Amino acid sequence: MSLTKVTAADIRAMKGRGEPIAALTAYDFSLARHLDEAGIPLILVGDSLGMVVLGYPDTTSVTMAEMEHHVRAVARARPRALVGADLPYHSYQTVEIAVANAQRLVAAGAEAVKAEGGRGILPQVRAIVQAGIPLLGHLGMLPQSVREEGGYHVKGKVEAEHAALVADADALVAAGAFAIVLELVTPPVAKELTARLPVPTIGIGSGRDCDGQILVTTDLLGTSPGFIPRHAKPRLNGRELVRQTVRDWRQSLGKPV
Ligand code: KIV
Repeated sequence: MSLTKVTAADIRAMKGRGEPIAALTAYDFSLARHLDEAGIPLILVGDSLGMVVLGYPDTTSVTMAEMEHHVRAVARARPRALVGADLPYHSYQTVEIAVANAQRLVAAGAEAVKAEGGRGILPQVRAIVQAGIPLLGHLGMLPQSVREEGGYHVKGKVEAEHAALVADADALVAAGAFAIVLELVTPPVAKELTARLPVPTIGIGSGRDCDGQILVTTDLLGTSPGFIPRHAKPRLNGRELVRQTVRDWRQSLGKPV
């Protein structure tokens, strides 16, 4: 990939070149700079913000104002990477509300928006794309539905879920999505969707056979103070490194008073 600004079209074209798409989340200026300097082409200001930064139990409390605040911080890093942002819970219930909120995220600095769902949100997806805003789809386990679904469940295990995933993915592509996140989709179904779709699949907990992978960055770095999902496999014991560094610094000051 060249050193020019990454666009949604560039991310889409990576599929054709067989170039794996590495995507990570950021919610602030510093991390966005680090990810960009490490060559990550897609930075997502995910609504995982709610758990990672704001201390909510799930993503359903995240507001548009909170998303805008963190999108602005990431955008100030002026990354070469494409900056995507989640439309938070209940911010895309109608076409008008969806377009207005997608435009607010773009005004804050997002270059693409992500919405959870398939055929159920097609009019919103079409309208966002028609408004000139690149849309990243999100299928499989939908974190914003965690309360309705009573937990985070793997999708695609039974034929009805498999068929629904195929129909939703085809519909999102027809509506103009430039890529689709597949979260907790069974690896065989994720592999089938990856082979079937003309746009990239970006997996999270969906096996290796996607066109790219996305992680919540604190899961990669092992800095989450709480639960780290099974698929994340931290590459660093960041939690312990941070605590030990703080302890060492504190001890370097001398006896605690
Ligand atoms: O909110 C988020 O961070 C996400 C992903 C990790 C896909 O939606």
